[in-house]
Amino acid sequence: MKHNFGAGPCILPQEVFKQAAEAVIDFNGLSLLEVSHRSGDFVQVMDEARDLVKKALGVPAGYTVLYLQGGASLGFTIAALNMMRDSKKAGYINTGTWASSAIKEAENIGVDVNVFASSEDKGFTYIPKNFEIPTGLDYVHYTSNNTIYGTQFQRIIDTTVPLVCDMSSDIFSKPIDVSKFDLIYAGAQKNLGPAGATLIIVKDEIMGKSTSPFMPSYLDLKKHAEKDSMMNTPPVFSIYTSMLNLRHLIANGGVDAAAIRNEAKGNLMYSEIDNNPLFFGPVTIEDRSNMNATFLLKEGAPSEIFDAMWKEAGIIGIKGHRSVGGYRASMYNALPIESVKVLVDVMNEFTRKNG
Ligand SMILES: Cc1ncc(COP(=O)(O)O)c(C=O)c1O
Repeated sequence: MKHNFGAGPCILPQEVFKQAAEAVIDFNGLSLLEVSHRSGDFVQVMDEARDLVKKALGVPAGYTVLYLQGGASLGFTIAALNMMRDSKKAGYINTGTWASSAIKEAENIGVDVNVFASSEDKGFTYIPKNFEIPTGLDYVHYTSNNTIYGTQFQRIIDTTVPLVCDMSSDIFSKPIDVSKFDLIYAGAQKNLGPAGATLIIVKDEIMGKSTSPFMPSYLDLKKHAEKDSMMNTPPVFSIYTSMLNLRHLIANGGVDAAAIRNEAKGNLMYSEIDNNPLFFGPVTIEDRSNMNATFLLKEGAPSEIFDAMWKEAGIIGIKGHRSVGGYRASMYNALPIESVKVLVDVMNEFTRKNG
């Protein structure tokens, strides 16, 4: 048995894998992969997949849910283009690689970006606090969970400026108050479903108000909303499987229950990192992510022995992102706590033999 701690694409519930596989063979007499996205059967899937997002997160009236493509990487540009207003100024919080990419893409389309808070001074190992948000901004953007560094905002940014968030790696892991946001986007491939779809939750009143002179149809959220996410061929398999996964999430207590399970996994993992003398965590304790726990071996500890031991235990995907090294245990919704116990046991055993 494998214990998949991969950062995304990542583990989904086994039952969802099974149901998705069955639909590839038989979806109302056809393969899901050959069915027309315009068919009644698929339109129903799209409708349910969007409704379940609203149900799972308690999305209030006045918001539209869209499934697009291009990943969160195209989301960076979509967000900047659709939120651009007269000032063409936006505030960004830089918490690492993905936030930096969001900044770069906004600048690429002519946004005057003010990075009013950053954790770059300490290698992105903390979440900036006590910052002042400048005035005169079209919008403020932040990344709720920093997949690479293992930091996570524990609170929503408090502002009256329109708020945009890249929630790729913690959406559906806990309850969120969607009414605080004007635009949320997330690549599907963590807690939602397979890679291929990008989830967008957008406040209706912000659509169609961009002042950008450049607006390709595919990047215009208003056009997608008018076509019910069917302006062009949607990523059928990713959306169908996301629908199955959302059904599974809701049947298992929704985001409230997921948050409790994720907290338990996080506590188990971090208590091992803190108490094991051969390991340490680089992230400020109150900013730690329950989705991605980053940790390092202390100097002199034999990494080749540790690596051999976790591989032997069936663990995969715990090498840190290539840009930061070390280790990263990604513990998305579908990762059972039993897998975290296996990793913790390996860390203990390693220290017993090598400490
Ligand atoms: C927080 C965050 N934002 C953006 C991205 C980029 O997403 P995509 O590969 O869907 O473009 C990732 C990928 O892991 C991420 O974790």
